[in-house]
Amino acid sequence: MPTIVFVSPKGGAGKTTSALVLAEQIARSAPVTVIDADPNHPIQTWAAGPNTPANLSVVAHADEENVIDVIEEAAARTPFVLVDLEGTAAKIVLLAVSQADLVIVPTQGSQLDAAQASRALRVIRQQEKMSRRAVPYGVLITRTNPTIRTRTATHLMNAFREAGIAMLDTELHEREAFKALFAFNQPLSHLDPKDVSNIDKAVANAEEYAAEVINLLRASQQNGVAA
Ligand SMILES: Nc1ncnc2c1ncn2[C@@H]1O[C@H](COP(=O)(O)OP(=O)(O)O)[C@@H](O)[C@H]1O
Ligand SMILES: [Mg+2]
Repeated sequence: MPTIVFVSPKGGAGKTTSALVLAEQIARSAPVTVIDADPNHPIQTWAAGPNTPANLSVVAHADEENVIDVIEEAAARTPFVLVDLEGTAAKIVLLAVSQADLVIVPTQGSQLDAAQASRALRVIRQQEKMSRRAVPYGVLITRTNPTIRTRTATHLMNAFREAGIAMLDTELHEREAFKALFAFNQPLSHLDPKDVSNIDKAVANAEEYAAEVINLLRASQQNGVAA
């Protein structure tokens, strides 16, 4: 019953988008609950739109008083639980990370964004010390240009790797379709190619990303790291 928590201090890093994209992919084969702990509740709003998969439910009443219970209840109901958080400063982040089988740290590929991502990594380390267990995590580079890899992005990724930071091999590309999810309140699979370009490429990217996350979860369970 893996719980995947999305953490980054920076608004706009791509947490909500990468959480929803993953949720939709998982829902194709297994029930998933998204705990929408962003006070603006973007995923709850999205789910009120049409064509939300029957396998995907959203819970939006989590706060720092109840988040551990809310995660536990969700994990008892569905095999996958995703938690979309806002920022890193709040206690709710530390509490949610304490329940995580995998933490995903979305970040855009600039130096400033990377510095912010490091704050998220510090929260993970802090939680590891508190709970005396390793918290599997991966940095997900988001909003990259699918056709050109900029030197800045390459440099940053190398710097992360050299610092021993776990990175997902998959990046979430900048795609109109990923934006359109929230503009049309529809899943990727129901966007209309007349409105949105390159939906197929976004779907392929989403599938690759979800497959890597599932592999990471399997690997950490085999290592006995994840709960
Ligand atoms: N891969 C992407 N491709 C295109 N737009 C994206 C992508 N990821 C995020 N965005 C856009 O960037 C903005 C911030 O993304 P969001 O997922 O809400 O970040 P966060 O939850 O970290 O604040 C939103 O307008 C979203 O539509
Ligand atoms: Mg968000």
